[in-house]
Amino acid sequence: MAHMLRGKELAADIREKIRQEIEQAAGRVGRRPGLAVIQVGSDPASTVYVSHKRKDCADVGIQSFGYDLPEDVSQSDLLDLIETLNQDDRVDGILCQLPLPRHLDEFAVICAIAPEKDVDCFHPFNVGLLSLGRKGMLPCTPAGVMAMMASAGIVLKGKQAVIIGRSNIVGKPMAQLLLREHATVTIAHSRTVDLPALCRTADILVAAIGKPRFVTADFIKPGAVVIDVGINRGEDGKLVGDVDEASVKPVASYLTPVPNGVGPMTRAMLLKNTLTAYLDRNDSPSG
Ligand code: GUN
Repeated sequence: MAHMLRGKELAADIREKIRQEIEQAAGRVGRRPGLAVIQVGSDPASTVYVSHKRKDCADVGIQSFGYDLPEDVSQSDLLDLIETLNQDDRVDGILCQLPLPRHLDEFAVICAIAPEKDVDCFHPFNVGLLSLGRKGMLPCTPAGVMAMMASAGIVLKGKQAVIIGRSNIVGKPMAQLLLREHATVTIAHSRTVDLPALCRTADILVAAIGKPRFVTADFIKPGAVVIDVGINRGEDGKLVGDVDEASVKPVASYLTPVPNGVGPMTRAMLLKNTLTAYLDRNDSPSG
């Protein structure tokens, strides 16, 4: 029976450490860290995520600046706001909640955020540093997954890792972080042939596909570590992951629950990135 890897408690510990670090640093720097959170329109899921992020900021002593823009905001108004925030010294991190309405150019928006304030690690410069294995901002969800596995003492070196899903937010950066820890990494996706057989080769299986309970026991090598990144809303309104917990739990060695698994860790990593951006901006010789 799998041990449940709960992110909720670990995330609370991380938040407490961040809160203490901010308290210490704020006196020296003369201000608290600031995070600007932009939401365009009123997608219900985005509204929930954004409200969590603002609450998390308040809990640890980060000043959050909220920008709720209308659904039909123009590309140039959004880019102007980002430029203003790039120049604002109170703002250490800028996050524009995705997805954006279709008339907006998501890539241009991501590129407009100053790389040193890109706490999502979506900017091509930061993605480049990540793929080169250089020090820099780490993407929140993959970093959260790595922190959970490290805290459980899971060894990655030499292990076979399979990631289902090739998104820029999770699948691709997850592969980079696993590779850094010397896992052998395969990224599977919707065109992968015989997905269950491939997944059965995995010591570490990461599901990031957005299909409720898609990963069932026949995907799982006995004793595998199974990480469920999915956040899907069931017909009853409850959150369900990409993994069918009931059938996978008896086969896996570790499994992350949904909710209270990866989600709280993603949120904690955003706070960590904001703190890092703040310290880097204030402690750098030119800053
Ligand atoms: N939409 C879903 N996840 C994320 C995230 O981590 N960051 C941003 N900016 N938008 C998202």
